[in-house]
Amino acid sequence: VNSVVRPIETRAAGPKSLLVSLTNEDGELPVHERLYRRIRLLIQSGAIPRGGRLASSRSLARHLGISRNSVLAAVDRLVADGWLESRPGSGVFVSYAGALVGGTAGIPRRSCGKPLALGTRPLDLFPAKLWKQLQSRRWDSIPRQALQLGDALGWPPLREAIATHVALFRGLKCNPNEVIVTTSVPAAIDLAVRALELTGADVWVEDPSYHASKRALQNCGVRMIPIPTDAEGLDVGFAEREAPNARAALVTPACQFPTCVSMSNQRRKTLSRWASDKKAWILEDDYDWQSSDQKRLPAPLAASNASRTIYIDSFNSTLFPALRIAYMICPLDVIDRFAAVRLGLDEHSNVPNQLILTDFIEGGHLDHHIKRLAAAYPERREALLECLERELCDVLTVHRRTIGTHVVASLHTQRESEFVSACAAEGVAMEAMGFYRIRSVTQQEILFGYAGFSPKEIQDAVATIRRAAMSLDRSRGGRMSDGAKQP
Ligand SMILES: Cc1ncc(COP(=O)(O)O)c(C=O)c1O
Repeated sequence: VNSVVRPIETRAAGPKSLLVSLTNEDGELPVHERLYRRIRLLIQSGAIPRGGRLASSRSLARHLGISRNSVLAAVDRLVADGWLESRPGSGVFVSYAGALVGGTAGIPRRSCGKPLALGTRPLDLFPAKLWKQLQSRRWDSIPRQALQLGDALGWPPLREAIATHVALFRGLKCNPNEVIVTTSVPAAIDLAVRALELTGADVWVEDPSYHASKRALQNCGVRMIPIPTDAEGLDVGFAEREAPNARAALVTPACQFPTCVSMSNQRRKTLSRWASDKKAWILEDDYDWQSSDQKRLPAPLAASNASRTIYIDSFNSTLFPALRIAYMICPLDVIDRFAAVRLGLDEHSNVPNQLILTDFIEGGHLDHHIKRLAAAYPERREALLECLERELCDVLTVHRRTIGTHVVASLHTQRESEFVSACAAEGVAMEAMGFYRIRSVTQQEILFGYAGFSPKEIQDAVATIRRAAMSLDRSRGGRMSDGAKQP
């Protein structure tokens, strides 16, 4: 028994057979159960690749010092549950693609704040002085109750303020008792998966999609089924064929992350019908709706299918990432399950901050702030688009989309990972689309964050990118000129 995490490839058990090790975790459990869990975790994390062949039961039993029956019990169950596939005459193979880039090494943190990094919010627009005033006013006469342990579902006046806010901005009418305050979108997903008992179930996830949300699903033992997205969002038809028995779908319909497309009406209808017919759940992450023209923004799925949708939105994106306040809206008939599970997790979100946020919303400051963002985004987006088209049109083609807080561009010839590394070495932190994908594709696309940067910062960053692209091109024997190209 040791704690090696990675599978061991061995030739002793045939070419490229995978051996695994047991750990001391779950030490109380029967050995076949421990082995089952261990292999499942390695597959889920991507540490054992899809198509990999497991070492024979005999080799595994010998390697682990356990009985062959225990190995067979674990493997049979993994086959029955669809993690492994038995091919008579050839062996047992991994039939599920672990979802995360980086495998068990974890997810690299974003470089928020560095030029063109995704997730960098326009903090220059956040009214910090006003927040400070609200904060000191609150702390002058803070109710004692706010310093005790709080309500698992959130500070009641904040839940009311949120219900009014979503009705006004998103046309989503709900009862304040349906609102749950959480710390983040991934925390809301984690809570939903546990409360709705989705562990072990198939869940459709958009491919590409946000790492932290996938990690939340993965941590809860969900079987993620990657579903491609296109110009209409999640390909629901593909999903229904690929995993007809899925019990939930995690989607970003307002602004698909990271492709920045809004889900088409047709797909919305099909997804909603699927959820109703199959009694499945839609986990709707209403990400970046603030970046869209309010007049053209469709209502969330939760507005038309409240009984099958868990709606999730985050103040961390709207206000400032360090706030750690997000919320979800759930049907009343499941809310008690959510409260019970929450008490077993982190109990509740920071209460004094919930009070300040309540005052911020009730004072009309959130409305103002969202309007400020809506005015600033198109201006900043245009500054980046214009700069990229002027300076890098011989290297990439930008996709002129009107939503999202980053810009997507296709590279003409360079590889996205090399391109991103070359720019990162010069201090520019845009990202590769592949970073967010589960399944690899041939397109080479780059994501440039713009929301938190001034036109001057954008201009300087793009000039740096041009230099990096040029030296990359020259190192490959290309002849890119150092002057900016005109289209
Ligand atoms: C798709 C998506 N959802 C939600 C979030 C925000 O989540 P959080 O509440 O953790 O800030 C992000 C941040 O980048 C995101 O990309």
